[in-house]
Amino acid sequence: MSTVSAPPRSVTVRVPAKVNCELRVGPLGADGYHELSTVFMAVGLYDEVTVTRAERWSVTTTGPYAAHVPSGSDNLAMRAARLLARHMRVTRAPVAIRIDKNIPVAGGMAGGSADAAGSLVACEHLWGLRMDRDELMELAAELGSDVPFCLAGGIAIGSGRGERLAPVLARGTYHWVFALSSQGLSTPEVFGEFDRLTTDISVPQPEPSPAMMTALRSGDPEALGDALVNDLQEPAFSLRPALRAVLDAGLEFGALGGIISGSGPTVAFLTGSSEHALDLCVALTASGVVDQVTRAKGPVHGVQILPGPTRE
Ligand code: C5P
Repeated sequence: MSTVSAPPRSVTVRVPAKVNCELRVGPLGADGYHELSTVFMAVGLYDEVTVTRAERWSVTTTGPYAAHVPSGSDNLAMRAARLLARHMRVTRAPVAIRIDKNIPVAGGMAGGSADAAGSLVACEHLWGLRMDRDELMELAAELGSDVPFCLAGGIAIGSGRGERLAPVLARGTYHWVFALSSQGLSTPEVFGEFDRLTTDISVPQPEPSPAMMTALRSGDPEALGDALVNDLQEPAFSLRPALRAVLDAGLEFGALGGIISGSGPTVAFLTGSSEHALDLCVALTASGVVDQVTRAKGPVHGVQILPGPTRE
């Protein structure tokens, strides 16, 4: 006897944050975006996105960063759900979206992009759409440069605006410590500061460094620590000078490497083990130079559907 399962009434997914182990910024294109070459790593700091069938569209946010998230139609998770509904001509589309927010907002860890990626996958599942992966990736790229990577997870090279992904041969697990700031930095402002500070007009086309590729292939955290590089670091320091002291403190306390994550202001430190990560968290907290610290391992999977949906 075959059984046909009823469509779920509600779907919950979890989506990881990202750190850019390498971020090289090239010229500003006519579309207002910079050509990038980046190496993304998904790390185990998660937002949970739940979509539930509803009479009208809504979004609510819980968790430590809830206060900083827009609740209207400019919320990225809402924009993602509506884009998917329009694209796939879904009738009876409205959903209530709930975001349990643990990834800092405007922190350089793809917090907003993670919610968009989560919303796409949750709605795809809720509406029973069996979409081609490439089609979903294209919609993701429309929503933001980091959204495709949040879907994919793991470790990947991003080119173009950061949305064109290629796999990386990598091994090992990396233990990160993140020094979080209570006030975010605006990504366009940091790119604007990069343009202001970059007087050399012949900015080279960016590409991943051999040192980074070798480090990831070897699984050696010391080599990865040495290879960390971010062209948005100086612009972020220029806009938020206090971040330099945070980076210096982490390195002084024995981190294998440190870097501004994405466009900041989160400072990411690489350590050699989970014990080392815990020691660094304690030292940074005691130092008083950071607002808040957290730690996470990477790489981890991209969007994952959590079990236990309620059914109609
Ligand atoms: O695509 P996303 O919404 O994440 O980008 C936010 C802003 O960051 C863009 O509007 C642009 O100002 C800047 N940006 C850029 N070059 C990129 C990615 C983002 O200048 N490759």
